Amino acid sequence: MVDSAMAPQRARCLLVTGGAGFIGGNFVQHWAERHPHDTLVVLDALTYAGNLATIQPLVDRGAVAFVHGDITDAALVSALLADRAIDTIVHFAAESHVDRSIADPGAFVHTNIVGTLTLLVAARAAWCRDGAWTSGVRFHHVSTDEVFGSLAPNEAPFRETTPYAPNSPYAASKAGADHLVRAWVHTYGLPATISNCSNNYGPYHFPEKLIPLLIVNALHGKPLPVYGDGQQVRDWLYVTDHCRAIDLILDRGEEGRTYTVGGRAEHANLDIVHLVCSLIDARFADDPALTQRYPDCPAARGAPCRSLVSHVTDRAGHDRRYAIDPTRIAAELGFEPTETLATGLSRTVDWYLANEAWWRPVMDGSYRDWISQQYGDRESVS
Ligand code: NAD
Ligand code: TYD
Repeated sequence: MVDSAMAPQRARCLLVTGGAGFIGGNFVQHWAERHPHDTLVVLDALTYAGNLATIQPLVDRGAVAFVHGDITDAALVSALLADRAIDTIVHFAAESHVDRSIADPGAFVHTNIVGTLTLLVAARAAWCRDGAWTSGVRFHHVSTDEVFGSLAPNEAPFRETTPYAPNSPYAASKAGADHLVRAWVHTYGLPATISNCSNNYGPYHFPEKLIPLLIVNALHGKPLPVYGDGQQVRDWLYVTDHCRAIDLILDRGEEGRTYTVGGRAEHANLDIVHLVCSLIDARFADDPALTQRYPDCPAARGAPCRSLVSHVTDRAGHDRRYAIDPTRIAAELGFEPTETLATGLSRTVDWYLANEAWWRPVMDGSYRDWISQQYGDRESVS
């Protein structure tokens, strides 16, 4: 496999939207390390899901310029593209949590659809003159496998030609954004690529999503909520593998093309819960200091963390199974995940144990207090 990081590339000037979020933050770290001669500008509204701490060291040493702002702010986006000579947009910014989309769909339509539209309009204005596009520009749209709906147990995994059938307001808003990007390619010739990726996990993941929630709750002896029977299947990909996939698409992906990205790692939610519990049990058995740090964890008294499992009411419209066929990105760009679920989950548990300073302020509200002082109290737009 040829990693794009090994090949010489021209210097780029990237605008990374949502670069203070989970995947965006990991991507910014990946890019700064692999492409130190490129310029990185992050545009992030710092909603509840954004955490500047993820990229603060890079901002402090001048490797990343951080702009606090909203992707739906057309004047700001246009000014950024012009003033910073942006030639590449990597678009992560989104409202991303399905449960929140069920409670407050308007915020998802606004950010995910209107925000993407705003970026597309600004990109065309900045990069296209009289129908001719500036050489070397690229718009990469980061999307999800959830746009394809739910698979039956024996149905073939999603691929690039799978018809869209989004089921949640989140998935519908991402599908709308994907269709806008496609239309800009088809109608105006925008040099764009799209990736539809499966569930990510790993460092810097906000603890409302399943895996970080399990870790943080287990450490505090809180219930581990399993929706319904816990037999819903997801295809899990370690976040840095997703970052490598996007790097490859930016380097060698064909303009106008879509790539489905996955981990070849289909697992039922309950199996994930049990794996995370076993890992935490094992860490406590190996390290007596954890008992002092987390006395409320069942493992601190030698009991299994899985005793905390609590089956709760199922999510409305809960998709039963997602799975990705990654044949295209494997064959055309040489992408394969480097982490298995076992190695990735083990790394993830170790990261949360070693980085309480990152997640504790997010959990106890002190991070939001700090952001309010810095930027004013600003939650996601609804
Ligand atoms: P996240 O919720 O952790 O981060 C989203 C980031 O976007 C945050 O930093 C937030 O502050 C920022 N943001 C939100 N609204 C904004 C706005 N209006 N203007 C500017 N910034 C705004 O999300 P994530 O899990 O990192 O997902 C990133 C992207 O990847 C999303 O587009 C998501 O749909 C997609 N994706 C996620 C997964 C996954 O498993 N997490 C899988 C496939 C695709
Ligand atoms: P989540 O991390 O919210 O990602 P997504 O909904 O985008 O797949 O959820 C992953 C799976 O875990 C999903 O099937 C819902 C389930 N889940 C629970 O069972 N309990 C929880 O507390 C959460 C947050 C999710």
